[in-house]
Parts: sequence; structure tokens; C-alpha cells
Amino acid sequence: MKKYNVAVAGATGAVGIEMIQILEERNFPVNEIRLLASKRSAGKKMTFNGEEVTIQELTHDSFEGIDIALFSAGGDISLEYAPSAVKAGAVVVDNSSAYRMYDEVPLVVPEVNPEAAKSHKGIIANPNCTTAIAAVALWPLHKAFGLKKVIVSTYQAASGAGAPGMNELIDGIKAGIEGKEVENKVFAHPLPYNVIPHIDKFQENGYTKEEMKVTWETRKIFSEPELAVSCTAVRIPTLRAHSESIVVETEKEVTAEAARKILEQSAGVKVVDNIGENIYPMPLNAAENWDVEVGRIRQNIIFGSKGLEFFVSGDQLLKGAALNAVQIAELLID
Ligand code: A2P
Repeated sequence: MKKYNVAVAGATGAVGIEMIQILEERNFPVNEIRLLASKRSAGKKMTFNGEEVTIQELTHDSFEGIDIALFSAGGDISLEYAPSAVKAGAVVVDNSSAYRMYDEVPLVVPEVNPEAAKSHKGIIANPNCTTAIAAVALWPLHKAFGLKKVIVSTYQAASGAGAPGMNELIDGIKAGIEGKEVENKVFAHPLPYNVIPHIDKFQENGYTKEEMKVTWETRKIFSEPELAVSCTAVRIPTLRAHSESIVVETEKEVTAEAARKILEQSAGVKVVDNIGENIYPMPLNAAENWDVEVGRIRQNIIFGSKGLEFFVSGDQLLKGAALNAVQIAELLID
């Protein structure tokens, strides 16, 4: 079997670390792994498949001989260095938002639009974490019942702001318990004991960019440019799984039972739905798992027989980022 030279740009970050682990866990056919980060990390060591690998500083010359470059070092770094990777002959799978809405860049959730990856011109974009997690549950329902309107409210973990966000939450919880002042640099307000209805920058229409990403990106991934999607995105003090309450209006008649059956057969979904036993999706259970948990599936009382309401939890670092990126890389070698 052919083996590939793979670079991870942002290897020391919250998502980068997961990318390396998932390449291992899914036995991705790696010949050489090149771990790239900032100057601060250059020379430090990480392990891959039991072997020590020295981290190198990311430069424009980092990609010689690389087949696939997974980027997760932020949008500015992708904008600066992804073109160098493409020039060197690599295919870039970019986890940042930098290229997602470019017409020539496919935006891919492998359970939804794997064929789109084939049309790449060097860069394939990985969606926003909230969008990817919702898409896995929404797509099978769209195929079966036709989505007319989608209304999402999110409960997003600190990991969406990378390792610094996770550290700020952990440090803040400790400081709060010790009666010290809870500092916030990453989040707009202290996150412990709080919920913050503000992720990313506010837009002219009053939505945040995070919220609009759910609208823009779902439409692009589903090839449904007119799909009615709205979102309220909220940061909560959990560590690494995002949850979402989703209400949909459908074109066709739907029941909770029919939706449950469809979701039970859908790739990337785990139906966790037994209210009699207090079983439903929760971030603590979804964390560190590849599947997106879906539960609390019920007929929506506003839209009646053409509406559903449900709750999802998915690991932000995995399906929301690193796992989806590695799945895209797998499409490239299929
Ligand atoms: P480093 O650890 O050396 O700072 P997170 O999203 O968890 O904050 O991770 C961001 C990732 O992006 C880290 O791997 C970080 O490396 C990397 N990174 C940040 N700035 C740069 C830069 N200027 N050049 C290369 N990598 C960078």
C-alpha cells in the first residue's frame, strides 16, 4: 500500500495534537510525519507511532516532499503558508475558516459530500466545528424528509478557542474555588459559572460570525444555497464537546420514530435517546468519541407533523475538527 508524507501545521495545538493521534488510531498510511509549529516549539519532541519526532518551525520551505498538509494553526497562518504547501505539491486540508467560502475550495463533511473533495485545486476546507457536528445529524434528515427551516441554539465548549481557551477555563475554575479573581483574556467575559452568548465578532445584522458560519457553511456543504438556517451560538463552561438544540421544519411529514430510525442507520451518528432511563446526549459522554450523539428526538410542537426537535453533542476537537480533517485526507488516498 502506498504511504504518504504528511505534515501537521499547528502540531502542538489542541486540534493538532488530536490530528496526530487520529492519524495513528486510524492507521493512516504515513511514510514521514512532519510536525510544524511556531519558533517557540521548534526542537521540542512529540511521539508518533511510538517514535520521537522533532517539531520544526513552520516556514515557507516546510513542505518539500509532502503529499498532504493538515493545517490547524489559525486563519492567518493558513493564508500565509497554505499556498506554499500547494506550490510544493501538497494537498492542504485546512481547519481554519480562511478558505471555506472560496468558490474553488471544497468544504467537506465526508458523511455528507465526499465527492466534493475530488474537485479540489490544492486546498480543501474543514468546516466550522458547530457546523460539522450539526451537519452529520441534519444531512440524513434532509435526504429523508427535506429540510425547510433549521433553527440552532448552541452550547459550545472552551476547546473551540484552542488550548488557551481550555486552560483559561481550568485556571478560572481553580481561581474561583480559591476565592481569587477569575481572569479572562481568551473569552469576552469570565467563563466559569457563566454562559456567554457571544462567539467571534458581531456582524452588521446582529448575528456573530460564528452564527453566520453555521448558515453559510451548511448551505455550501449541502449544496442548498437558499436553505433557511439560523443560529444563536453560546459559550458554556465545558471543556471539549459542543452541544446543540436543533429545531427543523420539514417538507415532508415526519415522526420522531421515523427520524430515529433514519439516524440509527446514519454514518457518524450515535442515537442516544431513552428518556425513560435519563439517557440523552451530553458533552461529558460525547467527549473523546468520534460519533455525534443525537437524542431528545421529538415532534416539534410548533411545526407539528412537519417538524422535529432534537439535541446533539459532538466532540469539538474530533468531529468538529481533527477527525473530519483526517477523514478528508482518507478521501484523498481512496
Ligand atoms: P505553538 O505551540 O508553537 O505556539 P491552539 O489553537 O491550541 O492555540 O494551537 C495553535 C497552533 O498553532 C499551535 O500548534 C501553535 O504552535 C501554532 N502556531 C501559532 N502561531 C504560529 C506561527 N506563527 N507559526 C507556526 N505555528 C504557529
